[in-house]
Amino acid sequence: AVDEENVGNVKRQLAKIFEVSLKTTVPDETDVEPLIAACTGKFGDYQCNNAMGIWSKIKGKKTEFKGPPSVGQAIMKNLPPSEIIESCSVAGPGFVNVVLSKDWMAHSLQRMLIDGIDTWAPRLPVKRAVVDFSSPNIAKEMHVGHLRSTIIGDTLARMLEFSHVEVLRRNHVGDWGTQFGMLIEFLFEKFPNPENVNEAAIGDLQAFYKASKQKFDSDPEFKQTAQQAVVRLQGGEAKYRKAWAKICEISRTEFHRVYQRLGVHLEEKGESFYNPYIPGVLEKLNQQGLIEESEGARVIFVEGVNIPLIVVKSDGGYNYASTDLAALWYRLNEEKAEWIIYVTDVGQQQHFDMFFKAAKRAGWLPADGASYPKATHVGFGLVLGEDGKRFRTRNTEVVRLVDLLDEAKNRSKSALIERETAKDWSEEEIEKTAEAVGYGAVKYADLKNNRLTNYTFNFDQMLSDKGNTAVYLLYAHARICSIIRKSGKDIEELKRAGKIVLDHQDERALGLHLLQFSEVVEEACTNLLPNVLCEYLYNLSEIFTKKFYSNCQVVGSPEETSRLLLCEATATVMRKCFYLLGIVPVYKI
Ligand code: ARG
Repeated sequence: AVDEENVGNVKRQLAKIFEVSLKTTVPDETDVEPLIAACTGKFGDYQCNNAMGIWSKIKGKKTEFKGPPSVGQAIMKNLPPSEIIESCSVAGPGFVNVVLSKDWMAHSLQRMLIDGIDTWAPRLPVKRAVVDFSSPNIAKEMHVGHLRSTIIGDTLARMLEFSHVEVLRRNHVGDWGTQFGMLIEFLFEKFPNPENVNEAAIGDLQAFYKASKQKFDSDPEFKQTAQQAVVRLQGGEAKYRKAWAKICEISRTEFHRVYQRLGVHLEEKGESFYNPYIPGVLEKLNQQGLIEESEGARVIFVEGVNIPLIVVKSDGGYNYASTDLAALWYRLNEEKAEWIIYVTDVGQQQHFDMFFKAAKRAGWLPADGASYPKATHVGFGLVLGEDGKRFRTRNTEVVRLVDLLDEAKNRSKSALIERETAKDWSEEEIEKTAEAVGYGAVKYADLKNNRLTNYTFNFDQMLSDKGNTAVYLLYAHARICSIIRKSGKDIEELKRAGKIVLDHQDERALGLHLLQFSEVVEEACTNLLPNVLCEYLYNLSEIFTKKFYSNCQVVGSPEETSRLLLCEATATVMRKCFYLLGIVPVYKI
């Protein structure tokens, strides 16, 4: 029987079959979930690992079983007939190994080619999610940390969207707070007519921020007017609102340049958006008795942390935490999101830990942290320079992100121009490919690491065409496309009329890996780990090149049709991986 919901997800399809067997094997145990895992050994493709767990539950009771292996034997014997399974065996302490039917594998691959890879999209138990990412601060620098957040957040959003989740891509821009008093006052001083101010006039907004901060710190009179400006801004005075909007707008253009280069789409709902909700939200928490007085501030105590979460500062002002509480309330109640994901550096872990705990105390989120609605902090490590210290460029203190991306593109362009094959390319082709490769390299270098670790930013490494890099993968994909092109065959025609066979062991190995795409995306989504998908993509390329393409002649062989279809399936899955990682594929090199 075809299980529409789990098309392409071998693990889930096997789980369904094993569930039937488990019910027959131990009818009295009601809560046994099938444990299915892909296996690396040579005895099977997948294994069912339930025998030992079941044995430990039933060993005191009177049953027909003598130990885990006999439970394994029974699980195997009770499996209903299935076209998916070729054969089974029981190994060691009761593992049931499954060898997949290669006819079924071939058929599944062919169906994917005809129906499209979207039929392989995982189903997640969530309908709507917020991914809060990028989130730079107005007038302050947008630094490499924000670049990481942008890249990781975009990938997570893409993976969830692919998996049928509606994603609200939120840019939680730091556009509110006391720094605006000083920025506005400084703007008035420099430009008596702020209407006419634009980016060209202000120049570098970060320098503007620094200069105003310097004045704020050294000039008590300025400090006082700046503090009054905050009050007037928050009171909604038109002149102040306008100046604020102006500063935000200038910052925004700078952010947009980065997003445009990266092909990242975001919807801005900055801190200012949630400001009107803060008093009401805090009042609710207060009525629940959660808010206490501590050293002049209003705070919430949470378990396991010896400092409280400050929600109203001693001067009566709100802060980062009050805004985040209001934003979470809004996302849960107004936007009805079931999963709220925050992508920032690990340095903010304590903030998120404390504010999630506060939300649990308030009953907004279930206490177990596992069921929905759920809030998750996706932390990531630092970006380091080759000296092992925080990443900086040679002369400036901060790294301008646009410059960084330009450099990646220019370097990949120079390398491209030197290639013999690119000699007769149009200028546009070279530009587009240089962008795809350059930006793809920056993204992949970031995503391939476990996000929690620090990573070293190195142009030479990320732009190398050898090893685990975007360049290597993009070229591998282009090469597969060229095999298909050069065959002269109409691939659409082959999809319908041709047939995939997996008789050679390397055809089978490639087919198996392709069939694991869906469960890998599911795992990457569930654990919010893009590196899992990178690893899959790299292995796919390795299996294709080192096994399949080295040992199975494609063009001119008796198996040409089937092998061209395997090339096409590989290219299709690679392209979907690229898409999910925010990388633009290239078709020729
Ligand atoms: N603006 C913050 C920063 O630059 C990140 C905001 C993350 N999102 C949030 N809801 N706290 O560090």
